[in-house]
Amino acid sequence: MRILHVCSELFPLLKTGGLADVAGALPQALIRQGADVRVLLPGFPAILAGFHTAGEVAKLETFAGAARVLFGHTEAGVALYVIDAPQLYDRPGNPYHDAHQAAYADNYLRFALLGWVAAQLAGGLDGWWRPEVVHGHDWHAGLMPAYLAAQGRPVKSVFTIHNLAYQGLFPADCFAELDLPAQFFRMHGLEYHGQLSFMKAGIFYADRITTVSPNYAHEITTPEQGCGLDGLLRDRSDSLFGVLNGVDEAVWNPATDSLIAEHYGAGRLAGKAKCKTALQALTGLDVTDEKPLFAVVSRLTEQKGLHLILATLGEIKARGGQIVVLGGGDAWMENAFREAAAADPGSVAVKIGYDENFAHQIMAGSDIIMVPSRYEPCGLTQLYGLKYGALPLVRRVGGLADTVVDCSLENLAEGIATGMVFEEFSENGLTQAIRRAFALWSRPKDWKSVRNIGMQQDFGWHAAAEQYLALYGAW
Ligand code: ADP
Ligand code: GLC
Repeated sequence: MRILHVCSELFPLLKTGGLADVAGALPQALIRQGADVRVLLPGFPAILAGFHTAGEVAKLETFAGAARVLFGHTEAGVALYVIDAPQLYDRPGNPYHDAHQAAYADNYLRFALLGWVAAQLAGGLDGWWRPEVVHGHDWHAGLMPAYLAAQGRPVKSVFTIHNLAYQGLFPADCFAELDLPAQFFRMHGLEYHGQLSFMKAGIFYADRITTVSPNYAHEITTPEQGCGLDGLLRDRSDSLFGVLNGVDEAVWNPATDSLIAEHYGAGRLAGKAKCKTALQALTGLDVTDEKPLFAVVSRLTEQKGLHLILATLGEIKARGGQIVVLGGGDAWMENAFREAAAADPGSVAVKIGYDENFAHQIMAGSDIIMVPSRYEPCGLTQLYGLKYGALPLVRRVGGLADTVVDCSLENLAEGIATGMVFEEFSENGLTQAIRRAFALWSRPKDWKSVRNIGMQQDFGWHAAAEQYLALYGAW
């Protein structure tokens, strides 16, 4: 089966979050199961620099200006189509906003073109290869199903919601520039309270909608988590599926990871102790194996609940723990974490910014990975934590609830506990979970048993790939 994925990031070429990890891993998992997969991306500098061009598929005049569609391969051998349109994409840094965090004013053109080119490929733009299914990711690809609908749906479309809160909303007058039928701009279409919504377009026009965990698939049909689109998602619930993301074991595996101090695995943890010492030494934390080392690797945004971590730093320190934080995002949070580290460098280490290598070292060297999110469509860091023997401490929400089992007495007794899970999104809720972590730490035998069970969980991509293939073929 020929499948075209459409997205805006792809690990290892360009990554701002988990979407890139998914785009980097899912196509390869599908290929391993026999599918013929290609990926379409905007020609951001990092994408153009990271792929080997084999040739030009087409030269086009479009509503967004001149564009070339190139074909080539990544280092890993994944086939890519890349839209080369320097007037839209040749900007340094983040793909969505400028250095002052301001979204680019022409984002509606930049990402409409992505959806439009996907539809051209579905219509046979490349005489050599035409997809049977086009699978778009997040609002950036949201117009792809609309352009396909406008063409009479020549192929099947699947649209995956990775984060419903980022919707791609633009003023109504942008719509006229996008080469879509006028009647699409209505409530039963892509209009959202007088604006143009890329996310709504994806949800409304796609043949099938998926999101990245079963629990989030349910949550987004409720007013609390539906971000204003829960009504439409309820209407489409027969076509809405939750498929849990996986872990790319070629990238995230402590037995083979070349970025960590020493290799280890379930049942042979000596290497992990060395990774902890190395991490403490690297970050200036007191070097000791007695204190539990908490960790955060995250975008510093409202979604991730990190203000709760700031509020509970005192609790962690008072009980004799340490914490290392890697993240970037909201300026006030960056400053607050910096100040916390400056005040107590032996117990709190903070690195502001994005650092892929350091993220691996943290997973390997820490004891607990904290993900206290307000909402979390899937979450990947808790899965990496499981794999690396860093017990996830998470809120019971979205994909976190689907992937971590709390170390309650009954779960410990049944041998199914893998971490700490709390309900209430508050300082009190998180504090209770931190206290449970310390209680478990004080019983080393139980701690090791929970860690061992966590490390043996199978969150490989094969399960998700099977579910997507079944979905692609199902209608
Ligand atoms: P989200 O996509 O909402 O940010 P996920 O948990 O799905 O959350 O994925 C986050 C990904 O980004 C993980 O691969 C994580 O390791 C990585 N990441 C987040 N912040 C940083 C950072 N500051 N430096 C390096 N990697 C980071
Ligand atoms: C989004 C979500 C995150 C998810 C990732 C990959 O960024 O916030 O929960 O893991 O997409 O699907």
